[in-house]
Amino acid sequence: MANVNIKIEGRSFKVDDSLTILQAARACGYNIPSLCSWKNGRCSLASCRVCLVALRGQNRLVPSCAYPVSEGLDILINDPMAIEARRTSVELLLSNHSMNCQSCSKNGQCELLEVSRIVGARPDVYVGAKTPTTYDNLAPGLIRDTSKCILCGRCVETCKAEQGLGILGFEKRGFDTIVSPSANRSFAEVPCIQCGQCVNVCPTGALMEQSEIDKLDQAFAEGKYVIVQTAPAVRAAIGEEFGEKIGTSCTGKMVAALHRLGFYRVFDTNFGADLTIMEEANEWIKRLSTKGTSPMITSCSPGWVNFIEYYYPNLIGHLSSCKSPHQMLGAIVKSYYAEKHNIDRSKICVVSIMPCIAKKYENKRPDNAVDGIADVDVVLTTRELAKLIRRAGITWKKLPNEEFDHDLIGEYTGAGVIFGVTGGVMEAAIRTAYHILTGEELEPVEFTAVRGLKGIKDAELEINHQKYKICVASGMKNAKILLDQIQAGESPYDFIEIMGCPGGCVNGGGQPFVKELFLPNEEDDILQTYIQKRAQVLYDKDKFKAVRRSHLNKDIITLYNDFLGEPGSPLAHKLLHTKYNSKREKYPNPHEEGFYNKKK
Ligand code: SF4
Ligand code: SF4
Ligand code: SF4
Ligand code: FES
Repeated sequence: MANVNIKIEGRSFKVDDSLTILQAARACGYNIPSLCSWKNGRCSLASCRVCLVALRGQNRLVPSCAYPVSEGLDILINDPMAIEARRTSVELLLSNHSMNCQSCSKNGQCELLEVSRIVGARPDVYVGAKTPTTYDNLAPGLIRDTSKCILCGRCVETCKAEQGLGILGFEKRGFDTIVSPSANRSFAEVPCIQCGQCVNVCPTGALMEQSEIDKLDQAFAEGKYVIVQTAPAVRAAIGEEFGEKIGTSCTGKMVAALHRLGFYRVFDTNFGADLTIMEEANEWIKRLSTKGTSPMITSCSPGWVNFIEYYYPNLIGHLSSCKSPHQMLGAIVKSYYAEKHNIDRSKICVVSIMPCIAKKYENKRPDNAVDGIADVDVVLTTRELAKLIRRAGITWKKLPNEEFDHDLIGEYTGAGVIFGVTGGVMEAAIRTAYHILTGEELEPVEFTAVRGLKGIKDAELEINHQKYKICVASGMKNAKILLDQIQAGESPYDFIEIMGCPGGCVNGGGQPFVKELFLPNEEDDILQTYIQKRAQVLYDKDKFKAVRRSHLNKDIITLYNDFLGEPGSPLAHKLLHTKYNSKREKYPNPHEEGFYNKKK
């Protein structure tokens, strides 16, 4: 890397020669509008032409997100030709857009509207035929509305680059071009894992989560005991919806808002995370002692579970049979809690506020129910919670800090909190597994080798003079590497944690949008930075918690003593464990040898 001298609007700057004009301009204090660029001002497609700038002396315009800086480049942002071209680019996008902003769920956070305002675009300059559109709401988690798609390709790139999948692509040609799964099929008809990473990067309302707010309203209207729980990652990001800085912990205000929304009880999913650790650590130790399927892989990320069911069904035996924390908490509320309070379990509605879109599928899996009653009835994302708070007229800034409810259940440890970040489940599991195997406590309690945002992290752990190899991965492109090793019989690991979303739940598909246009200039890699900031909230919570090991959670100890027996007991299995099924039959793998012959 070297520095080059450039000029922007006649002023001289020295910038890194690896930057695009857009990146360099942002570093120098100029924010050129952009739409298709993602990942801090770099774009391989350059499809929207919203970031055009002029080059002095060359009488031409170039897309700043794809054009590299070079020695002597003289860039004009405020050039009349560039101003006009940027406005025309946006007006052309608007001419093929449904523009029903009033009812659009992206309203208030739409990057197209924001860019339109900045460039002064007029909506009705170009009027004519519009591309035929598709509205797909058949999948449990996702909605695709091509009438709002600007063909920026961010979703296409994200699904391919981050998840290694390629569910979305450009279909058809010219005026008829749309972005969709192959042959414009529904998300429900393709092996999409419902992770929602594509939703997170979509600048418009073309990709959104399925809202379940109506289901919640119905539960209140029916007079049910509506009990809510919130996942750890939600508190680390909900404040962003109300103008708080990225990385602000908002537990107290979030709980206060939930109390004001009228929930019967407000529980922390961290309790469910502690319970998951009790079951999962015991399952791992049992597998070790009985020489069961190894390495065992965690199962609390439903996007990841979808992935293995679709793409590596022969490895399903490696998955822990534990339900995810919110499912466990739901199952305990509808059994232990209901029994102790003499409440008819069919009259309870469990609502999970999650950073995740795939959870909207997970709670509908038939095996995540006990005696035909689902553990969790409604799943809302962090973004949907923000909508509920706004709809109820609650002023975020004026909310006090309140505590989660503690009623038979609810106590949680630092181990439960770190579930929301990649490596957290492994770290929490190790704290408890070490205790079970040695009778002593792991010191220091932090196992930092599995922290950080690297896609794959591995480490060695010594327990009773025996060395165990552990590994943590997030994002499906990284999961593939580990699964291919297992497939080839070359995995060196004893225990693996995998999360569907890169960075873990703090970067889940249901978290507040981080808009490209408003990314701070000073950060090198904003994606890493915002995930890191949210993750730090959870690590800080763990650090300051008096009890940091799941097996020391008093409510969990009482739950086992009074109700479940011991981890892995028949009742624990009935309530807290689940089953997985191959989805390969439904979606055969075209890369498999003989696939095309079989189809004939
Ligand atoms: S995506 Fe944006 S511009 Fe389009 S309808 Fe929704 S809010 Fe309006
Ligand atoms: S939800 Fe995930 S797997 Fe499905 S299309 Fe979007 S990024 Fe790809
Ligand atoms: S669906 Fe969204 S992210 Fe994908 S191409 Fe369309 S506007 Fe861009
Ligand atoms: S062409 Fe540069 S942001 Fe779209």
